[in-house]
Amino acid sequence: NRKSFTSVKALTESPQLTSLPPSYTYTTNSDDEHEIVTDPEEDDPIPVIDYSLLVAGTPDQRAKTIEDLGKACEEWGFFMLTNYFVSKSIMEKMVDEVFAFFNLREEEKQEYAGKDVMDPIRYGTSSNVSMDKVLFWRDFLKIVVHPEFHSPMKPPGFREALAEYSRRTWKLGKELLRGISESLGLGVNYMEHRMNLDSGLQMVAANLYPPCPQPELAMGIPPHSDHGLLNLLMQNGVSGLQLLRNGKWINVSSTSNCLLVFVSDHLEVLSNGKYKSVVHRAVVSNKATRISLAVVIAPSLDTVVEPAKELLDSQNNPAAYIGMKHRDYLQLQSSNRLNGKSVLDNVK
Ligand code: SIN
Ligand code: FE2
Repeated sequence: NRKSFTSVKALTESPQLTSLPPSYTYTTNSDDEHEIVTDPEEDDPIPVIDYSLLVAGTPDQRAKTIEDLGKACEEWGFFMLTNYFVSKSIMEKMVDEVFAFFNLREEEKQEYAGKDVMDPIRYGTSSNVSMDKVLFWRDFLKIVVHPEFHSPMKPPGFREALAEYSRRTWKLGKELLRGISESLGLGVNYMEHRMNLDSGLQMVAANLYPPCPQPELAMGIPPHSDHGLLNLLMQNGVSGLQLLRNGKWINVSSTSNCLLVFVSDHLEVLSNGKYKSVVHRAVVSNKATRISLAVVIAPSLDTVVEPAKELLDSQNNPAAYIGMKHRDYLQLQSSNRLNGKSVLDNVK
């Protein structure tokens, strides 16, 4: 079931490309009705969470950080993480290897092309080529790294860098979920147990956005929220990420030495809507190649994700979502076009 395709990278390397091919023209037939793009307001900055205070602070510092975490999840569905004990060299090595992967010959990459969503290694373009009305200016490589570790064999250093980065971010994700469990008033181990994180799904998605001849007409990734509990994102110093907040698109700067954390759909369901998954998109530029690397921290595929019973109350807080197996949620996502929260709407 391998289906080869034209990657954006290959397209940009055909010498005559000076304008955007019509199949990539997003603006005229998009589903995206929000127009305003702005930087964060001074009096409403993007929340910043100091990870070191969560895991190595005094009890008071930890309590305050958990409170801030809860607020960030509730009010933004997004925060920046600082002091998280993953060294700059580990992160840079990972980004270098991602570049090296995308720089392989197209035939070598296409070995992983066009396969099923459930396949552990998948190289592709746009978001879902068979569904997309318009193509998106993005190539991607998605790899399942937990409960079983997978990696492409090339480039030579990729596997080692990925193993290290995956191990670090899994630990980070689990610690954050411990704090978030507490912020919901659930036990510290609640999420780990209920979401079966021992066999939890961790997926790394590397995105490549080559320079685009007419960036204002194209889109890197259209508005969507992520599946899973959390998504930890790093970027290569080129900006492009925007968050939807109060009907406006907020530019997220490409600040180095912070990881960006997204509340994802399953955390919204589990919290019965108290925490909201954040709708985001990636725009492109004509200047530099952008890379982003997302790490999805998610329940095991057989876990039924539903609102935590401990948070429900038939009078004041009835369940707002139905339960669904993670595996079925993923299938649903793969049979939908990326479009805001359209997948999550299926369990409401
Ligand atoms: C994503 O939504 O998964 C990636 C966003 C980005 O490239 O910043
Ligand atoms: Fe995303």
